[in-house]
Amino acid sequence: MKIIGIETSCDETACAVVENGEKILSNIVLSQVRLHGPFSGVVPEIACRAHVHWLTGVASEALDQAKIAPQELGAVAVANRPGLIGALLIGVAGAKSLALALGKPLVSVNHLQAHIHAAIMSHPELAYPFLSMVISGGHTAIYISTGPGESEMLGATTDDAVGESFDKVARILGLPYPGGPSVSDAAKKGDPRAVDFPRPMLGPDSLDFSFSGLKTAVLYRVRGHDMKNPKDFPESDIPNVAASFQEAVVDVIVEKALRAVEKTGIRRLAITGGVAANSRLRDKLGKAADGVDVFFPTPELCTDNAAMVAGLAFELVEKGEIASLDLDAFAQV
Ligand code: KG4
Ligand code: ZN
Repeated sequence: MKIIGIETSCDETACAVVENGEKILSNIVLSQVRLHGPFSGVVPEIACRAHVHWLTGVASEALDQAKIAPQELGAVAVANRPGLIGALLIGVAGAKSLALALGKPLVSVNHLQAHIHAAIMSHPELAYPFLSMVISGGHTAIYISTGPGESEMLGATTDDAVGESFDKVARILGLPYPGGPSVSDAAKKGDPRAVDFPRPMLGPDSLDFSFSGLKTAVLYRVRGHDMKNPKDFPESDIPNVAASFQEAVVDVIVEKALRAVEKTGIRRLAITGGVAANSRLRDKLGKAADGVDVFFPTPELCTDNAAMVAGLAFELVEKGEIASLDLDAFAQV
């Protein structure tokens, strides 16, 4: 069965065709980074308008690259939660229209469960149950995953998502959006021990996260405490602040991952979402998680994409989970 996946939950307009949940025939991602860059973050209104303009073209391209006619599709899948509500609605409307026009089943997919499923698509040997962390620009949470689309949350951020904190720190340091790659690039030339930023752990047992205090600590380090008279911050200090901030974030994620392993006794861990691309995190987690098998999806399945949506949809179809044409979108899970 060939399924087209549609993903518009944030600032990527993406469509993909996946066969039997595993063979990716096409995976088109049109990034809106260029549109949001001048604002140092995603502007929902701009994201929605871009999805409207691009979605049909991206869907056509996905079918063309997969070399299939629309009638050969077995189902139409769409990420309908969680995300920017206006952005999700455009994907949902597009998916409903396509399903109705083709007379094919519609499948609704949870974007976060799709991120987790990306780890299985990249590593079919990854067996349930496993621990999974979704660390991205919009989400930061840790789960125990027991089956396709079945994950129970163990902890989540109480304020900023981790990718969002990279984006905000990039803005403070005058580095380009998105902040993850630009901060980690700057960090390569810096000393991670130069500034002792806080590692917010929220108590000895907590699996929740908090990054807003860390971001504020960076702000004070760069501008001082008097926002009306910000102090001069020499450009030469950027690498040290970037490296020290990144180190604090990575230490928190590694500690929470190890706590989850300790608490559950599960020694398989999947790390997904855009921040999973961070090389310092990959290094440190690899070394710290002794005796734990850590799985990262391939880079193109880490960041937002529609192949993960189509891949998980296949499993949902197998379970008989078909959506009706009055499907709605939801900003929260
Ligand atoms: O998963 P994703 O593409 O979109 C969301 O669902 O949010 O993640 C994007 C986020 C951005 O905040 C970006 O700054 C961050 O992932 N990111 C990184 C890196 N590459 C992307 N954060 C840290 N280090 C990276 N190398
Ligand atoms: Zn995402």
